[in-house]
Amino acid sequence: MSSGLHARLRAATADAHQALEDGLQWEARIATLDGYRMLLALMRGFHAGFEPVIGQALDDEAFFAPRRRLALLDADLDRLGLDAANIAALPVITPITLATKASAYGALYVLEGSTLGGQVIGRTIAARHGPAAEAACSYYRGHGRDTGRMWNAFRAHLEALDDDEVLAAGVATFDALRLWVAEPRPVRAAIPV
Ligand code: HEM
Repeated sequence: MSSGLHARLRAATADAHQALEDGLQWEARIATLDGYRMLLALMRGFHAGFEPVIGQALDDEAFFAPRRRLALLDADLDRLGLDAANIAALPVITPITLATKASAYGALYVLEGSTLGGQVIGRTIAARHGPAAEAACSYYRGHGRDTGRMWNAFRAHLEALDDDEVLAAGVATFDALRLWVAEPRPVRAAIPV
């Protein structure tokens, strides 16, 4: 049942969430626009890897389309000066295998949950760096005023799914993202900070 499953998901990924926050050091990163650009590049690699496999396994584009945020990341990076070739050359995470709808929902839990804290990050960037940066905040604005509604609608979809598959994919996706954020990659050298 959904509330029980959601509570289990939250509990099972709480440590990974904290580790992500610690590893991201988002306030330090966004102190400069270059740092913000690097953070976007990192999240772009995550969405570029996971969105296609989630979309395929969900097989419900009406539900998933408004939750796709790769195009927002590309638009923000473009506004921050990366051209299409630079963006296409950014590293992309290797996603976990999502063999069922339930596992796709588990992975999507991580992407959708990131819209919650993302609101704080978006507001901070806009306040710190002004209108130019605010224009490059579409990823962190995410669902904007619809964030609560979208989150509740997402959680409602957790009903009637195989709990174990959702949970396993949620934990594995969080772990994949935690490692992706922690591991030094070429993007850090390629984009000056
Ligand atoms: C890419 C990195 C992140 C991911 C994938 C992520 C993921 C998640 C998920 C899945 C949830 C939902 C927890 C639940 O089931 O209730 C959540 C909630 C939350 N996250 Fe994050 N998070 C990330 C980064 C951050 C950062 C950097 C912050 C700090 C600003 C943050 C602050 C929050 C807050 C405040 C909530 C709770 C919001 C609420 O209950 O209304 N998150 N996040």
